[in-house]
Amino acid sequence: MANTRAEAFAPATVANLGVGFDILGLALVEPGDTVQVEWRDEPGAVIVRIEGDGGKLPHDPAKNTACVAANSVLRQINASEGVGITLYKNLPLASGLGSSAASAVAAAVAVNQLFGEPLSRAELLPACLDGEAAVSGRHADNVAPSLFGGITLITGTGEIRMLPIPESIYLALVTPDVAVPTATARAVLPKMILLSQMVEQTAAVASLVDAIYRQDAEAIADAMERDGIIEPARAHLMPKLAEMRVATKRAGALGLVISGAGPTLCAICQDSQTAKTVSQVMSAVYDEAAIQSNSYVTHISPQGASSRLLND
Ligand code: HSE
Repeated sequence: MANTRAEAFAPATVANLGVGFDILGLALVEPGDTVQVEWRDEPGAVIVRIEGDGGKLPHDPAKNTACVAANSVLRQINASEGVGITLYKNLPLASGLGSSAASAVAAAVAVNQLFGEPLSRAELLPACLDGEAAVSGRHADNVAPSLFGGITLITGTGEIRMLPIPESIYLALVTPDVAVPTATARAVLPKMILLSQMVEQTAAVASLVDAIYRQDAEAIADAMERDGIIEPARAHLMPKLAEMRVATKRAGALGLVISGAGPTLCAICQDSQTAKTVSQVMSAVYDEAAIQSNSYVTHISPQGASSRLLND
């Protein structure tokens, strides 16, 4: 064992893309979480240290998303050795940026790297899902883009499809200092919907996928905003959502949606200068309401998680 440690970075993600609840997501260039793993003689994964979480994340291997994913990989490859995990938590918790998914993906990819990459990216997906399921339900719309990069479609048949990445899309994101746990945001969703709502939502998702293939930024943003089920049910959890939509569009954004389960909001823009202006407007809306926030401009990353061996 010449190399004693491995490190992986997994990016933040925007799940749902408005209308595609639990089936669409995209990877951001930044920010993201980093995990380092080192060998242990004892089997299984344990948390050695967590930085950047303000002491909020559990160290219990059954409750920590990174640990659950790491243990799942170790089982999958029948490892007799174990790993110690150091998690550098850069993503805010319960923010709608796929924080738990990024930690799970980074841990799974780092463990795989440490063991000489016995598993393909696709084979790592179930372990990442195990990690996500431990904290926010078993849905792949955050773990898939974080693992594979780009825009991913969860087909429902166990297959993940990579959609083309539109060239001229810049994203302005703002995260208010309000925690919205995914479990809370899922609990407010309707259990039943009308057939007419199903038809409208299905048409919107199909329009979105079509617009992505046509690389039509305006049509993409229009389709993303046509969510008549999830956003109305969650809107009360997102401070200033309506005001933010009006203000960002006035500043040139093509559309605005809730990122994942929120409260991060994501504006779709056609060029980087507009995205910068929109991001400033986003901060100003929250400043005016005396809500602390963090806004930034980023774009879609064609790459998912990355990893490397660390030679001590
Ligand atoms: N699709 C999920 C949701 C993403 O909206 O609840 C959050 O993890």
